[in-house]
Amino acid sequence: MIDHDRPRRLSVLGSTGSIGVSTLDVIDQLGGRDEFDVMALTGNGNLDLLAEQARRFGAKLAVTADESQYMALKDLLAGTGIDVAAGVSGLMEAADLNADWVMAAIVGTAGLAPTLRAAARGADIALANKECLVTGGNLFVDAVKAGGGRLIPVDSEHSAIFQCLETDQRHAVERIVLTASGGPFRSQSREQMANVTVQTARTHPNWSMGLKISVGSASMFNKALEMIEAKHLFDVRPDQIEVIVHPQSIVHSMVGYTDGSVIAQLGVPDMRTAIGYALTYPKRPALNVDRLDFAKIARLDFEAPDEARFPAIRLARTALERGGAQGAILNAAEETAFNAFVEERIRFLDMADVVEAVMDEMTAISAPASIDEVFTVDREARLKAADVIAARER
Ligand SMILES: NC(=O)c1ccc[n+]([C@@H]2O[C@H](COP(=O)([O-])OP(=O)(O)OC[C@H]3O[C@@H](n4cnc5c(N)ncnc54)[C@H](OP(=O)(O)O)[C@@H]3O)[C@@H](O)[C@H]2O)c1
Repeated sequence: MIDHDRPRRLSVLGSTGSIGVSTLDVIDQLGGRDEFDVMALTGNGNLDLLAEQARRFGAKLAVTADESQYMALKDLLAGTGIDVAAGVSGLMEAADLNADWVMAAIVGTAGLAPTLRAAARGADIALANKECLVTGGNLFVDAVKAGGGRLIPVDSEHSAIFQCLETDQRHAVERIVLTASGGPFRSQSREQMANVTVQTARTHPNWSMGLKISVGSASMFNKALEMIEAKHLFDVRPDQIEVIVHPQSIVHSMVGYTDGSVIAQLGVPDMRTAIGYALTYPKRPALNVDRLDFAKIARLDFEAPDEARFPAIRLARTALERGGAQGAILNAAEETAFNAFVEERIRFLDMADVVEAVMDEMTAISAPASIDEVFTVDREARLKAADVIAARER
């Protein structure tokens, strides 16, 4: 039986990443092994950390997504009694274990299948992996509903909106306002941005995060994904979603109501607040995170995003207006372009051009009717993106 009021059995998909490590820290702060049974922990390449986490929390199962690392992980956990699995089937095994609450913190589209599996059996899903909603859209929301569990956002912006939404006043919501830090290139010209390196692109001014989301913050593709995520999470029209640049990352997002009120959620940039809220919702945990010192902060700035320098925002709006499979296409093309940028095969500003070319080529594809169709669209968009990238390299 799943206990939605007081989750005790937990799994963390992507426990070795930035969100995964913060999640285990929150679990520790809230009583660790005395309060929670950690069922499954999963990682990919960071086996030492995965094995250390599995031992520390007495996990039932540890999984590496990298099939070739199965024996290495098994050796690291020899004699502990912790089961070991690998590959996609291992991730599915982790999702199937009877956790009440599952943190979805795998990066990218690889997170979709295991998160769906956990949702289908009724676990509460703490959703960090925005790609589930960007690619699966309503299919994903419906799968969670059919399973009977809850979908609790972890992305700081969506957690903020979730906290600002008065559940009995949904009809009075006029707009949701996603804040964006603007990333490391907020004040740079397009010319300056043309030759930036991966190292500078990954240096976020406020948040400490994984590589993909850090580069996505610099290009604002992370905000683009969040706009699409917000549409599906909160069932709002595209014209109700606003983005505002807020360099201090103190206001995590806001909801505007028909009476002119705007309700905001504020906090220091620390994902553990959103993770703790997702774990104890609707209660609030006592967490050891820094507190806001308003006198020290002194001012909060806001500015409109420059869509000429950050075309990702315009592309997200286009994807939302076109509907169909454009969310999945934007996501797949962006992941492919991101990989090419990290491998130094294309330049920073090329990423948006690649995404736009693929989206424009695939406008006729209607919304996927099944998860298999999501994967088909995803594959096709990746192939097209690879072609666009190859043509640029020549
Ligand atoms: N970091 C943040 O503050 C933040 C905030 C909001 C939302 N999010 C979202 O949360 C998700 C995770 O972000 P993150 O920053 O924590 O990423 P990250 O630090 O890169 O960690 C990603 C996790 O996924 C695992 N992984 C990588 N490739 C995989 C694959 N092919 N199959 C299965 N697992 C794989 C990694 O394993 P190894 O490390 O062992 O290789 C790691 O456990 C993303 O969707 C991101 O957009 C993150």
